[in-house]
Amino acid sequence: MGKIILTGDRPTGRLHIGHYVGSLRRRVELQNSGQFEKIFVMIADAQALTDNADNPEKVRQNIIEVALDYLSAGLDPEKTTIFIQSQVSELTELTFFYMNLVTVQRLQRNPTVKQEIALRGFSENEGDGNENRKGIPTGFFCYPISQAADITAFKATTVPVGEDQEPMIEQTREIVRKFNSTYGEALVEPEIMLPDNAACLRLPGTDGKAKMSKSLGNCIYLSDSAEEVWAKVKGMFTDPGHLQVSDPGKVEGNTVFTYLDAFCKPEHFDKYASCFVGKKVSFEFHSLDEVKAQYRAGGLGDMMIKQFLNAVLNDTLEPIRQRRHELEQNLPYVYEVLKKGSDTARAVAAETLADVKRAMRINYFDEGVLEQLIKEQAEKYSAK
Ligand code: TRP
Repeated sequence: MGKIILTGDRPTGRLHIGHYVGSLRRRVELQNSGQFEKIFVMIADAQALTDNADNPEKVRQNIIEVALDYLSAGLDPEKTTIFIQSQVSELTELTFFYMNLVTVQRLQRNPTVKQEIALRGFSENEGDGNENRKGIPTGFFCYPISQAADITAFKATTVPVGEDQEPMIEQTREIVRKFNSTYGEALVEPEIMLPDNAACLRLPGTDGKAKMSKSLGNCIYLSDSAEEVWAKVKGMFTDPGHLQVSDPGKVEGNTVFTYLDAFCKPEHFDKYASCFVGKKVSFEFHSLDEVKAQYRAGGLGDMMIKQFLNAVLNDTLEPIRQRRHELEQNLPYVYEVLKKGSDTARAVAAETLADVKRAMRINYFDEGVLEQLIKEQAEKYSAK
Protein backbone atom coordinates (compact mmCIF):
# COMPACT_ATOMS: atom_id res chain seq x y z
CA MET A 1 0.00 0.00 0.00
CA GLY A 2 1.20 3.47 -0.88
CA LYS A 3 1.97 6.18 1.60
CA ILE A 4 -0.61 8.85 2.28
CA ILE A 5 -0.10 12.29 3.80
CA LEU A 6 -2.61 14.34 5.74
CA THR A 7 -1.78 17.60 7.40
CA GLY A 8 -3.30 21.02 7.85
CA ASP A 9 -3.49 24.40 9.53
CA ARG A 10 -6.03 26.35 11.50
CA PRO A 11 -7.23 29.37 9.52
CA THR A 12 -6.70 31.99 12.20
CA GLY A 13 -4.30 34.23 10.27
CA ARG A 14 -2.03 34.52 7.27
CA LEU A 15 0.84 32.03 7.21
CA HIS A 16 4.29 33.28 8.21
CA ILE A 17 7.81 32.13 7.44
CA GLY A 18 7.75 29.93 10.56
CA HIS A 19 4.92 27.95 8.95
CA TYR A 20 6.90 27.96 5.73
CA VAL A 21 10.14 26.44 7.02
CA GLY A 22 8.36 24.35 9.66
CA SER A 23 5.96 22.63 7.30
CA LEU A 24 4.85 24.29 4.09
CA ARG A 25 8.19 24.08 2.25
CA ARG A 26 8.45 20.43 3.22
CA ARG A 27 4.94 19.69 2.00
CA VAL A 28 5.75 21.11 -1.39
CA GLU A 29 8.91 18.98 -1.55
CA LEU A 30 6.99 15.87 -0.49
CA GLN A 31 4.29 16.68 -3.02
CA ASN A 32 6.88 16.85 -5.78
CA SER A 33 8.87 13.83 -4.59
CA GLY A 34 6.45 11.36 -6.13
CA GLN A 35 6.81 9.16 -3.04
CA PHE A 36 3.24 9.52 -1.88
CA GLU A 37 0.17 7.97 -3.34
CA LYS A 38 -2.10 10.73 -2.05
CA ILE A 39 -1.63 14.03 -0.26
CA PHE A 40 -4.35 15.87 1.64
CA VAL A 41 -3.89 19.33 3.08
CA MET A 42 -6.74 20.56 5.21
CA ILE A 43 -7.81 24.03 6.27
CA ALA A 44 -8.97 23.19 9.80
CA ASP A 45 -11.78 25.68 10.21
CA ALA A 46 -13.82 23.45 12.52
CA GLN A 47 -10.81 23.06 14.80
CA ALA A 48 -10.20 26.83 14.68
CA LEU A 49 -13.77 27.31 15.88
CA THR A 50 -13.12 25.23 19.00
CA ASP A 51 -11.44 28.26 20.55
CA ASN A 52 -12.96 30.96 18.35
CA ALA A 53 -16.62 30.08 18.73
CA ASP A 54 -17.51 33.73 19.21
CA ASN A 55 -15.64 34.81 16.09
CA PRO A 56 -16.59 32.65 13.10
CA GLU A 57 -16.02 35.63 10.82
CA LYS A 58 -12.30 35.63 11.66
CA VAL A 59 -12.09 31.98 10.67
CA ARG A 60 -14.14 32.56 7.52
CA GLN A 61 -11.90 35.43 6.38
CA ASN A 62 -8.73 33.48 6.95
CA ILE A 63 -9.73 30.44 4.90
CA ILE A 64 -8.92 32.31 1.71
CA GLU A 65 -5.70 33.74 3.20
CA VAL A 66 -4.42 30.27 3.99
CA ALA A 67 -5.55 28.93 0.62
CA LEU A 68 -3.70 31.75 -1.16
CA ASP A 69 -0.59 31.07 0.94
CA TYR A 70 -0.75 27.35 0.10
CA LEU A 71 -1.12 27.82 -3.61
CA SER A 72 1.46 30.58 -3.87
CA ALA A 73 3.99 28.54 -1.87
CA GLY A 74 3.70 25.79 -4.44
CA LEU A 75 1.00 23.35 -3.37
CA ASP A 76 -0.43 22.08 -6.63
CA PRO A 77 -4.11 21.07 -6.65
CA GLU A 78 -3.34 18.56 -9.39
CA LYS A 79 -1.16 16.67 -6.93
CA THR A 80 -2.53 17.69 -3.54
CA THR A 81 -6.12 17.69 -2.38
CA ILE A 82 -6.69 20.96 -0.55
CA PHE A 83 -9.96 21.05 1.36
CA ILE A 84 -11.98 22.70 4.12
CA GLN A 85 -12.53 20.60 7.23
CA SER A 86 -16.10 21.69 8.00
CA GLN A 87 -17.25 20.63 4.54
CA VAL A 88 -16.42 17.00 5.28
CA SER A 89 -19.16 16.14 7.75
CA GLU A 90 -17.98 12.51 7.95
CA LEU A 91 -15.18 13.82 10.18
CA THR A 92 -17.62 14.79 12.92
CA GLU A 93 -19.27 11.38 12.77
CA LEU A 94 -15.94 9.65 13.20
CA THR A 95 -15.12 11.99 16.08
CA PHE A 96 -18.33 11.00 17.85
CA PHE A 97 -17.50 7.29 17.68
CA TYR A 98 -13.87 7.81 18.73
CA MET A 99 -14.98 9.82 21.76
CA ASN A 100 -16.05 6.53 23.35
CA LEU A 101 -12.47 5.30 23.17
CA VAL A 102 -10.84 8.20 25.03
CA THR A 103 -11.16 9.11 28.69
CA VAL A 104 -11.52 12.63 30.04
CA GLN A 105 -8.42 11.94 32.12
CA ARG A 106 -6.39 11.07 29.03
CA LEU A 107 -7.39 14.34 27.37
CA GLN A 108 -6.47 16.23 30.52
CA ARG A 109 -2.99 14.74 30.33
CA ASN A 110 -2.44 15.83 26.71
CA PRO A 111 0.40 18.38 27.07
CA THR A 112 -0.73 20.55 24.15
CA VAL A 113 -4.30 20.74 25.48
CA LYS A 114 -2.93 21.57 28.93
CA GLN A 115 -0.75 24.33 27.55
CA GLU A 116 -3.51 25.80 25.45
CA ILE A 117 -5.96 25.80 28.35
CA ALA A 118 -3.44 27.88 30.31
CA LEU A 119 -2.68 30.12 27.32
CA ARG A 120 -6.35 30.79 26.53
CA GLY A 121 -7.18 31.42 30.17
CA PHE A 122 -9.82 28.67 30.18
CA SER A 123 -9.90 27.28 33.66
CA GLU A 124 -11.93 24.76 35.49
CA ASN A 125 -13.66 27.34 37.66
CA GLU A 126 -16.66 27.92 35.51
CA GLY A 127 -18.96 30.79 36.35
CA ASP A 128 -17.01 32.35 39.21
CA GLY A 129 -17.60 35.79 37.72
CA ASN A 130 -14.08 36.21 36.33
CA GLU A 131 -14.34 36.76 32.59
CA ASN A 132 -11.02 35.01 32.05
CA ARG A 133 -12.27 31.89 33.74
CA LYS A 134 -15.09 30.75 31.54
CA GLY A 135 -14.48 27.06 31.77
CA ILE A 136 -13.17 24.76 29.05
CA PRO A 137 -15.41 24.49 25.98
CA THR A 138 -16.18 20.79 25.46
CA GLY A 139 -15.49 21.04 21.73
CA PHE A 140 -12.07 22.52 22.43
CA PHE A 141 -11.32 19.84 25.01
CA CYS A 142 -12.13 17.12 22.48
CA TYR A 143 -10.22 18.55 19.54
CA PRO A 144 -7.43 15.96 19.80
CA ILE A 145 -10.12 13.36 19.09
CA SER A 146 -11.36 15.31 16.12
CA GLN A 147 -7.77 15.55 14.92
CA ALA A 148 -7.58 11.75 15.10
CA ALA A 149 -10.66 11.68 12.88
CA ASP A 150 -8.99 14.06 10.39
CA ILE A 151 -5.95 11.84 10.12
CA THR A 152 -7.61 8.42 10.09
CA ALA A 153 -10.41 9.43 7.70
CA PHE A 154 -7.79 9.62 4.95
CA LYS A 155 -5.92 6.50 6.13
CA ALA A 156 -2.88 8.75 6.45
CA THR A 157 0.42 6.97 7.06
CA THR A 158 2.42 10.17 7.43
CA VAL A 159 1.60 13.44 9.18
CA PRO A 160 4.17 16.21 8.56
CA VAL A 161 3.72 18.73 11.39
CA GLY A 162 5.66 20.78 13.91
CA GLU A 163 6.80 19.29 17.19
CA ASP A 164 3.94 20.97 19.09
CA GLN A 165 1.65 18.48 17.35
CA GLU A 166 3.45 15.41 18.70
CA PRO A 167 0.93 14.79 21.52
CA MET A 168 -1.90 14.91 18.96
CA ILE A 169 -0.32 12.25 16.79
CA GLU A 170 0.41 10.10 19.84
CA GLN A 171 -3.23 10.38 20.90
CA THR A 172 -4.33 9.46 17.37
CA ARG A 173 -2.15 6.35 17.44
CA GLU A 174 -3.73 5.29 20.72
CA ILE A 175 -7.22 5.74 19.31
CA VAL A 176 -6.32 3.68 16.25
CA ARG A 177 -4.94 0.85 18.39
CA LYS A 178 -7.97 0.93 20.66
CA PHE A 179 -10.37 0.97 17.74
CA ASN A 180 -8.65 -1.85 15.88
CA SER A 181 -8.41 -4.08 18.96
CA THR A 182 -12.01 -3.41 19.97
CA TYR A 183 -13.78 -3.61 16.62
CA GLY A 184 -11.29 -5.18 14.20
CA GLU A 185 -8.65 -3.70 11.91
CA ALA A 186 -10.17 -0.76 10.08
CA LEU A 187 -7.83 2.14 10.80
CA VAL A 188 -4.23 2.94 9.86
CA GLU A 189 -1.74 4.00 12.53
CA PRO A 190 -0.02 7.19 11.33
CA GLU A 191 3.52 8.38 11.89
CA ILE A 192 4.63 11.91 12.62
CA MET A 193 7.18 13.53 10.30
CA LEU A 194 9.11 16.35 11.98
CA PRO A 195 11.24 19.01 10.26
CA ASP A 196 14.81 17.71 9.93
CA ASN A 197 16.59 21.05 10.41
CA ALA A 198 16.77 22.32 14.00
CA ALA A 199 16.35 25.95 12.93
CA CYS A 200 13.12 24.97 11.18
CA LEU A 201 11.69 23.03 14.09
CA ARG A 202 10.69 26.22 15.82
CA LEU A 203 11.68 29.41 14.08
CA PRO A 204 11.85 32.22 16.64
CA GLY A 205 10.07 35.54 16.14
CA THR A 206 11.95 38.58 14.80
CA ASP A 207 12.32 39.69 18.44
CA GLY A 208 14.09 36.44 19.31
CA LYS A 209 11.13 35.13 21.31
CA ALA A 210 10.62 31.39 21.20
CA LYS A 211 7.85 31.39 18.63
CA MET A 212 6.47 33.49 15.83
CA SER A 213 3.02 34.48 16.80
CA LYS A 214 0.53 36.98 15.53
CA SER A 215 -0.30 38.19 19.02
CA LEU A 216 3.37 38.96 19.73
CA GLY A 217 3.67 40.95 16.49
CA ASN A 218 6.98 39.25 15.66
CA CYS A 219 6.08 37.52 12.39
CA ILE A 220 7.26 37.89 8.84
CA TYR A 221 4.33 36.86 6.67
CA LEU A 222 4.62 35.08 3.35
CA SER A 223 2.47 37.84 1.93
CA ASP A 224 4.56 40.74 3.32
CA SER A 225 5.92 43.15 0.73
CA ALA A 226 9.67 43.49 0.18
CA GLU A 227 9.55 46.82 2.09
CA GLU A 228 7.76 45.22 5.05
CA VAL A 229 10.28 42.37 5.13
CA TRP A 230 13.23 44.78 5.10
CA ALA A 231 11.70 46.90 7.89
CA LYS A 232 11.23 43.76 10.00
CA VAL A 233 14.70 42.40 9.24
CA LYS A 234 16.30 45.74 10.10
CA GLY A 235 14.59 45.64 13.48
CA MET A 236 15.63 42.09 14.26
CA PHE A 237 17.40 41.06 17.45
CA THR A 238 21.01 39.98 17.09
CA ASP A 239 23.69 39.62 19.74
CA PRO A 240 23.16 42.42 22.32
CA GLY A 241 26.90 42.33 23.10
CA HIS A 242 27.88 43.00 19.52
CA LEU A 243 28.06 46.82 19.64
CA GLN A 244 30.89 47.71 17.25
CA VAL A 245 31.52 46.07 13.93
CA SER A 246 34.95 45.04 15.20
CA ASP A 247 33.53 43.33 18.32
CA PRO A 248 33.37 39.55 18.30
CA GLY A 249 29.73 38.45 17.98
CA LYS A 250 27.67 35.46 19.07
CA VAL A 251 26.00 33.30 16.48
CA GLU A 252 24.13 30.99 18.85
CA GLY A 253 20.81 32.46 19.86
CA ASN A 254 21.30 35.23 17.30
CA THR A 255 18.03 35.36 15.43
CA VAL A 256 19.53 36.61 12.18
CA PHE A 257 21.75 33.52 12.06
CA THR A 258 18.88 31.22 13.01
CA TYR A 259 16.96 32.56 10.01
CA LEU A 260 20.02 32.13 7.81
CA ASP A 261 20.28 28.53 9.01
CA ALA A 262 16.67 28.02 7.97
CA PHE A 263 16.76 29.83 4.61
CA CYS A 264 20.30 30.04 3.28
CA LYS A 265 21.27 27.73 0.43
CA PRO A 266 24.68 27.32 -1.26
CA GLU A 267 23.47 29.11 -4.39
CA HIS A 268 22.89 32.29 -2.37
CA PHE A 269 26.63 32.71 -2.10
CA ASP A 270 27.13 32.69 -5.86
CA LYS A 271 24.27 35.09 -6.20
CA TYR A 272 24.95 37.57 -3.42
CA ALA A 273 28.61 37.09 -2.51
CA SER A 274 29.64 40.39 -3.99
CA CYS A 275 26.47 42.40 -3.38
CA PHE A 276 27.19 43.84 0.01
CA VAL A 277 30.52 45.46 -0.22
CA GLY A 278 30.55 47.68 2.82
CA LYS A 279 32.84 50.58 3.60
CA LYS A 280 35.27 48.48 5.54
CA VAL A 281 34.37 44.89 4.80
CA SER A 282 33.47 43.31 1.54
CA PHE A 283 31.02 40.50 1.67
CA GLU A 284 33.11 37.78 0.17
CA PHE A 285 31.98 34.52 1.64
CA HIS A 286 31.41 31.15 0.11
CA SER A 287 29.46 29.43 2.84
CA LEU A 288 27.39 30.20 5.90
CA ASP A 289 30.16 28.71 8.05
CA GLU A 290 32.56 31.35 6.74
CA VAL A 291 30.09 34.11 7.57
CA LYS A 292 29.65 32.72 11.08
CA ALA A 293 33.40 32.43 11.61
CA GLN A 294 33.92 36.06 10.60
CA TYR A 295 31.06 37.25 12.82
CA ARG A 296 32.50 35.35 15.78
CA ALA A 297 35.96 36.76 15.16
CA GLY A 298 34.68 40.33 14.83
CA GLY A 299 34.66 42.64 11.88
CA LEU A 300 31.28 41.78 10.48
CA GLY A 301 28.52 44.30 11.17
CA ASP A 302 24.89 43.49 11.96
CA MET A 303 23.72 45.65 9.08
CA MET A 304 25.76 43.56 6.68
CA ILE A 305 24.32 40.25 7.80
CA LYS A 306 20.83 41.75 7.87
CA GLN A 307 21.20 42.85 4.27
CA PHE A 308 22.36 39.39 3.35
CA LEU A 309 19.44 37.80 5.21
CA ASN A 310 17.05 40.20 3.52
CA ALA A 311 18.35 39.17 0.10
CA VAL A 312 18.12 35.48 1.00
CA LEU A 313 14.58 35.86 2.37
CA ASN A 314 13.39 37.78 -0.64
CA ASP A 315 14.91 35.19 -2.91
CA THR A 316 12.38 32.74 -1.43
CA LEU A 317 9.54 35.17 -0.90
CA GLU A 318 9.48 37.06 -4.18
CA PRO A 319 8.17 34.19 -6.35
CA ILE A 320 5.60 33.39 -3.64
CA ARG A 321 4.54 37.03 -3.54
CA GLN A 322 4.16 37.18 -7.31
CA ARG A 323 2.06 34.04 -7.48
CA ARG A 324 -0.08 35.40 -4.65
CA HIS A 325 -0.76 38.62 -6.54
CA GLU A 326 -1.88 36.64 -9.56
CA LEU A 327 -4.12 34.38 -7.48
CA GLU A 328 -5.63 37.35 -5.66
CA GLN A 329 -6.88 38.46 -9.07
CA ASN A 330 -8.39 35.04 -9.68
CA LEU A 331 -10.42 34.22 -6.57
CA PRO A 332 -13.05 32.13 -8.39
CA TYR A 333 -10.24 29.71 -9.26
CA VAL A 334 -9.08 29.53 -5.64
CA TYR A 335 -12.57 28.81 -4.33
CA GLU A 336 -13.06 26.24 -7.09
CA VAL A 337 -9.90 24.45 -5.90
CA LEU A 338 -11.29 24.37 -2.36
CA LYS A 339 -14.69 23.17 -3.48
CA LYS A 340 -13.33 20.40 -5.69
CA GLY A 341 -10.85 19.40 -3.00
CA SER A 342 -13.62 19.25 -0.41
CA ASP A 343 -15.73 17.02 -2.70
CA THR A 344 -12.79 14.67 -3.23
CA ALA A 345 -11.97 14.61 0.49
CA ARG A 346 -15.57 13.89 1.32
CA ALA A 347 -15.69 10.85 -0.94
CA VAL A 348 -12.55 9.41 0.69
CA ALA A 349 -13.76 10.10 4.24
CA ALA A 350 -17.12 8.50 3.42
CA GLU A 351 -15.35 5.25 2.52
CA THR A 352 -13.51 5.22 5.84
CA LEU A 353 -16.69 6.02 7.73
CA ALA A 354 -18.35 3.06 6.00
CA ASP A 355 -15.41 0.84 7.07
CA VAL A 356 -15.73 2.12 10.63
CA LYS A 357 -19.47 1.51 10.78
CA ARG A 358 -18.96 -1.95 9.31
CA ALA A 359 -16.31 -2.76 11.91
CA MET A 360 -18.61 -1.50 14.68
CA ARG A 361 -21.52 -3.38 13.13
CA ILE A 362 -23.67 -0.27 12.97
CA ASN A 363 -24.05 -0.48 9.20
CA TYR A 364 -27.62 -1.82 9.50
CA PHE A 365 -28.78 -0.83 6.03
CA ASP A 366 -25.71 -1.72 3.98
CA GLU A 367 -26.18 -4.08 1.07
CA GLY A 368 -26.96 -7.58 2.39
CA VAL A 369 -26.75 -6.52 6.03
CA LEU A 370 -30.43 -5.79 6.54
CA GLU A 371 -31.43 -9.26 5.25
CA GLN A 372 -28.95 -10.82 7.63
CA LEU A 373 -30.22 -8.67 10.49
CA ILE A 374 -33.86 -9.63 9.85
CA LYS A 375 -32.89 -13.28 9.65
CA GLU A 376 -30.95 -13.11 12.90
CA GLN A 377 -33.75 -11.33 14.75
CA ALA A 378 -36.44 -13.56 13.24
CA GLU A 379 -34.63 -16.60 14.60
CA LYS A 380 -34.59 -15.02 18.01
CA TYR A 381 -38.32 -14.38 17.97
CA SER A 382 -39.34 -17.65 16.41
CA ALA A 383 -37.47 -19.50 19.14
CA LYS A 384 -39.73 -17.88 21.76
N1 TRP B 1 -3.74 21.17 15.05
C1 TRP B 1 -3.15 21.64 13.83
C2 TRP B 1 -2.61 23.07 14.12
O1 TRP B 1 -2.96 23.65 15.11
C3 TRP B 1 -4.11 21.70 12.67
C4 TRP B 1 -4.69 20.36 12.36
C5 TRP B 1 -5.98 19.98 12.49
C6 TRP B 1 -3.97 19.23 11.88
N2 TRP B 1 -6.15 18.69 12.14
C7 TRP B 1 -4.94 18.20 11.74
C8 TRP B 1 -2.63 18.98 11.58
C9 TRP B 1 -4.57 16.94 11.32
C10 TRP B 1 -2.29 17.69 11.13
C11 TRP B 1 -3.25 16.68 11.02
O2 TRP B 1 -1.85 23.57 13.32
